[in-house]
Amino acid sequence: MTERELILFRQWFETYVSGYQIKNNLLHPMLELKRKHSFRVAANARKIAADTGASESKQNLAESAGLVHDVGRFPQFSKFGSFRDTDTVNHGISGRAILESQDILLPLPSGERTQLLYAVEYHNRSKTDIPFKSGRNWLLKVLRDADKLDIMELTLGSLVSDGFSDLSDMLPHISLNREVTPEVIHEALATGSVSIERLSTLADFLIMIATWFYDLYYVPTRKLAHERSIFLRIRQELPDSNDIEELFADILDSQKAGRLNSETAS
Ligand SMILES: [Fe+2]
Repeated sequence: MTERELILFRQWFETYVSGYQIKNNLLHPMLELKRKHSFRVAANARKIAADTGASESKQNLAESAGLVHDVGRFPQFSKFGSFRDTDTVNHGISGRAILESQDILLPLPSGERTQLLYAVEYHNRSKTDIPFKSGRNWLLKVLRDADKLDIMELTLGSLVSDGFSDLSDMLPHISLNREVTPEVIHEALATGSVSIERLSTLADFLIMIATWFYDLYYVPTRKLAHERSIFLRIRQELPDSNDIEELFADILDSQKAGRLNSETAS
């Protein structure tokens, strides 16, 4: 992707988002949060791509994938007032459909267009639901790492500023309670992941994002998470229990092992 195409992408995104302003040219606070998240995911994606040795053109593609990965969130929240996909729409699939209906992708070479649509469509699936296809995996993996990194940071930042009061607006079925639901920690220990449908408290949400460390693909992503002390900060927000100790010790082991057989740009 050329510099010129990236600039057009940025302009398109701003115009698209401004279509969801409600009054006084402002977005609903939840959508403003998504707008900022999109820019940070774009920056993370570019950084991860650069740190894995990707070309300038691939870095541009990674940045644009980050920028548009959540376009499906805007109509979703406007219509349903929730970001919970299971009750509303799958925002990866709807995001792809939105991009396909716009002229913005037309100037791109077909290979880049295919990768971008694939990355947007599958960025929010659980790892086992992704039909990895050759030639499309790199962008999807960079995007998934960049997205996870920012959701972790966004969560921790909101916890410090106001106890993550936005969580109940985003996912109305989750309370701000700090108790861990037994089924959630048991699922995390047994499978290394937590189904989003199972979450009912803030502590459950923190356990889910901690398990995302298992899914990070690239060493540069782990390095960025380490530099930002994300792992320790999540641990500090959770209560002490043997199960939680066990989970965090296992995640730490997996991160050390992952460094030995890490992935590079492909
Ligand atoms: Fe998303």
